[in-house]
Amino acid sequence: MRNSSTPPLLRLEDICVKFGFVEALKSVNLSIQRQEVVAIVGDNGAGKSTLIKVIAGFLQPGFGHIYLNGEQVTIPSIREADRMGIASVFQGQEFCDNLDVASNLFLGKEINQIGIRDDDSMNSRARSVLKTLSSAIRVGSPIASLSVGQRQTVAIARTLLNDPQLILLDEPTAALSVMQSAEVLAYIKRLRSEGRSVVMVCHDLPDVFAVSDRIVVIRQGHVTGVHRTVETSYEEIIAEIAGVTTEHEYEEIAENPKFDSMVRQRKLIDRTISAAVSHGTGHDSPLD
Ligand SMILES: Nc1ncnc2c1ncn2[C@@H]1O[C@H](COP(=O)(O)OP(=O)(O)OP(=O)(O)O)[C@@H](O)[C@H]1O
Ligand SMILES: [Mg+2]
Repeated sequence: MRNSSTPPLLRLEDICVKFGFVEALKSVNLSIQRQEVVAIVGDNGAGKSTLIKVIAGFLQPGFGHIYLNGEQVTIPSIREADRMGIASVFQGQEFCDNLDVASNLFLGKEINQIGIRDDDSMNSRARSVLKTLSSAIRVGSPIASLSVGQRQTVAIARTLLNDPQLILLDEPTAALSVMQSAEVLAYIKRLRSEGRSVVMVCHDLPDVFAVSDRIVVIRQGHVTGVHRTVETSYEEIIAEIAGVTTEHEYEEIAENPKFDSMVRQRKLIDRTISAAVSHGTGHDSPLD
């Protein structure tokens, strides 16, 4: 049981970010607990990526305070965030296509022994983080030979090198098939079961409902709602994303035939996640 006097893992207080005249975040307050998955949802341009970038140390807020484990901190850079136990994967993460999986995992963080690149240590560490995720990806494969889903796995594995407490994922399932998404969602669950917290931005509500403990809705730079996933519904979240205020508009949303397909998609995702978990493929390949 969580002790009620324990501060949250991360707390944002009154965070404001401006780009010129655009107020991307307006006085955002948010807490992330230990061992929880928080999904950030909202329309295009709502401020989701900006929020992730502030926590990741990529953007400095114009105003506001950040508390990590109860202590006020500034997160001046991604590198510093990494040292503080906060790792991130942004939208459109780039890889070096001509390098193999292990080299991409360690890009910019190479392990050196007396000034010489230590490939053996990197390969074995790469194998162990991929194994944590139960992934059968071979560390010696060229990145160019991997599917989009496998690349996302490598991007997530890369965050684990420094054993982070908090992992930030911006649209981790965008452009993935249902099978590939389910695999990534299974990894997210695994990270939580290891005691880590995950904040993920996601457009796909069935994915959000399949994996998150809480859902945070952002609209035009404001946090307009924070819900426990088991206590809310697709209708409520969609209405909040769209900023629906009248009963009539809400009913229109609730009658939308899209919900049936969302419910079906959710069932498929749940089944695929359980299959991915029970068939964990974390064996070492002889071809490594
Ligand atoms: N570097 C920047 N310079 C200027 N304006 C920016 C910058 N980054 C974001 N914005 C603006 O800030 C607002 C929030 O953008 P943000 O990228 O956080 O939205 P988002 O919720 O992630 O959207 P999407 O779903 O499209 O990824 C938008 O109006 C966007 O145009
Ligand atoms: Mg974004």
